[in-house]
Amino acid sequence: SGLNALATAAGKLYFGSATDNPELTDTTYTSYLNNSQHFGQLTPGNSMKWDATEPEPNTFTFTEGDQIANLAKSNGQILRAHNLVWYSQLPDWVTSNNYNATGLTEVIQNHIANVAGHYKGQPYAWDVVNEPLNDNGSFRSDVFYDTLGESYIPIALNATRAADPNVKLYINDYNIEYTGAKATAMQNLVKSLQADGVPIDGIGMESHFIVGEVPTTLVENFQAFADLGVEIAITELDIRMTLPETDALLEQQKQDFYNVVDACLQVSACKGITVWDWTDKYSWIPSTFPGEGAATPFDDNYEEKPAFDGIVEAL
Ligand code: XIL
Repeated sequence: SGLNALATAAGKLYFGSATDNPELTDTTYTSYLNNSQHFGQLTPGNSMKWDATEPEPNTFTFTEGDQIANLAKSNGQILRAHNLVWYSQLPDWVTSNNYNATGLTEVIQNHIANVAGHYKGQPYAWDVVNEPLNDNGSFRSDVFYDTLGESYIPIALNATRAADPNVKLYINDYNIEYTGAKATAMQNLVKSLQADGVPIDGIGMESHFIVGEVPTTLVENFQAFADLGVEIAITELDIRMTLPETDALLEQQKQDFYNVVDACLQVSACKGITVWDWTDKYSWIPSTFPGEGAATPFDDNYEEKPAFDGIVEAL
């Protein structure tokens, strides 16, 4: 039986995948993606980001985001919507118009009212704020932080709650999967939001790992977040290697996928697991990390890799 069937039988809400619009013309790909026994959840890899949804001020385009939202709906899959406020893939007008604090607050609120409002009632969760922290735990310097300080985070969370009252509000980041300064800073951010009465439901653990370097403190760290009363999810799992792939690397990758999935199973607050696409054919890794790749559970020809067996064994 499929990965999602196994994950739900093990008590998780879903096992899912990111996908992107150009891939959806590949019928071999979609025949597998559309099967909710395999994938019970979809995340749009790009088409709900700011540059895709509001390329010009107050001009919204939902065609591509809708394609993935509608696909999830027709397949009976949960939708994780991604993302509303992020320093990357922003249209130039957001960064170059030199908005003051009042102006940028209105820009954020209008973006969220329109985008989260458009999808109201459809996603299980929104990644409201994406990647707000530096690896040392300080706030990332970007147009939002530099103009508004930390206040952009409550502004975004409150706006999303107003636009879609039932969607789970997540902050999503990388290098917070394991204990350390960045995870501690994210926990402190959760505590300060809670103390101020700001809605926050979940923390997304991106989980872009490297073969042989999967952290050993995942369970301990996931539990520390759970103890704050938020849920968590593994939102962008892939485990890359330096190419070329070898049997030894593929075996290590199997163990690595096992360990990550097993960590989610050990913590009840971990709701689900999303791979950042399921086949090496459409992985973002080779273009972003030159010389690396083979990061997903299926190879370029859609054949199951040892990593797939690692996931099945954990589930
Ligand atoms: C990536 C997409 O997969 C790529 O297609 C795009 O070129 C860049 O963004 N963290 C995130 C995701 O939160 O939005 C990123 O997705 C991968 C890193």
